[in-house]
Amino acid sequence: MNTKEFTERYYVDRRGTWCYKWDSPEEQGKEHVISMSVADMDFKVPEAVTEAMIRRVEHGAFGYTITPDPYLEAFITWEKERHQVEIEKEWIRFSPGIVTGIYWCIQAFTQPGDAVIINTPVYYPFHEAILDLKRKLVRSELVPTEGRYTVDFEDFERKIVDEDVKMFILCSPHNPVGRVWEEKELEQLFDICGRHGVMIIADEIHQDFVYSGHTHISSLNVENGKYKDNVILMASASKTFNLAGLKNSFVVIPSEEKRKVFDAYEVSPHVDTACLMSYVAVEAAYRCGADWLEDLLKVIWENYEYAKNTFEKELPESIVTPLEGTYLFWVDLGAYVSADEIVDMVQEKAQVVPDFGNVFSDNCGTFIRLNLATSMENVEKAVNAVIMQIRERGLK
Ligand SMILES: Cc1ncc(COP(=O)(O)O)c(C=O)c1O
Repeated sequence: MNTKEFTERYYVDRRGTWCYKWDSPEEQGKEHVISMSVADMDFKVPEAVTEAMIRRVEHGAFGYTITPDPYLEAFITWEKERHQVEIEKEWIRFSPGIVTGIYWCIQAFTQPGDAVIINTPVYYPFHEAILDLKRKLVRSELVPTEGRYTVDFEDFERKIVDEDVKMFILCSPHNPVGRVWEEKELEQLFDICGRHGVMIIADEIHQDFVYSGHTHISSLNVENGKYKDNVILMASASKTFNLAGLKNSFVVIPSEEKRKVFDAYEVSPHVDTACLMSYVAVEAAYRCGADWLEDLLKVIWENYEYAKNTFEKELPESIVTPLEGTYLFWVDLGAYVSADEIVDMVQEKAQVVPDFGNVFSDNCGTFIRLNLATSMENVEKAVNAVIMQIRERGLK
């Protein structure tokens, strides 16, 4: 299916459907506002998912449920076929969302006051979880070169030692900087963590959004699995298949010792099973969604190329970060607009709601993050509205 056909078939107007992205206060009742924030998609799920859910709805009984084997097997098969990673059923635990899982792991494996390190700019709930739970937030800033970010390994290791860090939360692929980490980068990170007794929480929610020339390396496969007992992998179908509202994620814990710690923390039987409908949807998505995903990736790539080319042509001093993974467009408009003016310019004047860079890092006040998982029409409107505002006020 080409990108136009995909959009015609799957794009859906989500306004007025309790949609976080389109019905939040910034957008509510304002038909002309273009929301490019919150990382979910404006596309319907594969038909096989809806059909499986309808069949289950027609069954008509929604009582307590067990965790179905076919759902676990569908996830295991997906991980094996797509990411060449072997996951054993016994390793898998449930959490309603990756962020919840991160909160649980911080609580289960560290103590108040312990230091936790992240590579900023990064998904802001990482910062919030560490601070909410009264742990010490340690940031090692990624270093951009012409927009492409890499790890400052020296800084990372020095901070781990100086701050006596206990845990590292890895984002792979990385939101918002769109990096798909190379194996040698992961090896270096994991080696540093291993040498200093730092356990790794690997958030791989964006693992299926990877573009030509890049390969997602599962944290469980780094150096042939050498570090897997030091890693807790978080994954879900939420981003891949637009199922975030169904609240179903996987916490994968290869180490038996760590499973015991996690289970001892997370003992309540009321949170160890998911919503019945999420099992149905996730299983169908992993079993039947691969072709839909391939077509979707083409749509996102086309949107990325449009946004990149347009920014670079119209605002040549903007710095567009190359998209290796995720569906998030990260651009620095610092040559044209200050951190103090950016909200007014983008949200109030251009009427585009992005995620602003300052929530990802204190150093990113002049950045915006745009969600590309929508129609080309929305991308065009949003990109051109932002550019027009900047041009109207006069280029430097
Ligand atoms: C890196 C990352 N982790 C986690 C999440 C949210 O996951 P969940 O809704 O499962 O908590 C997001 C959503 O944007 C994300 O980008």
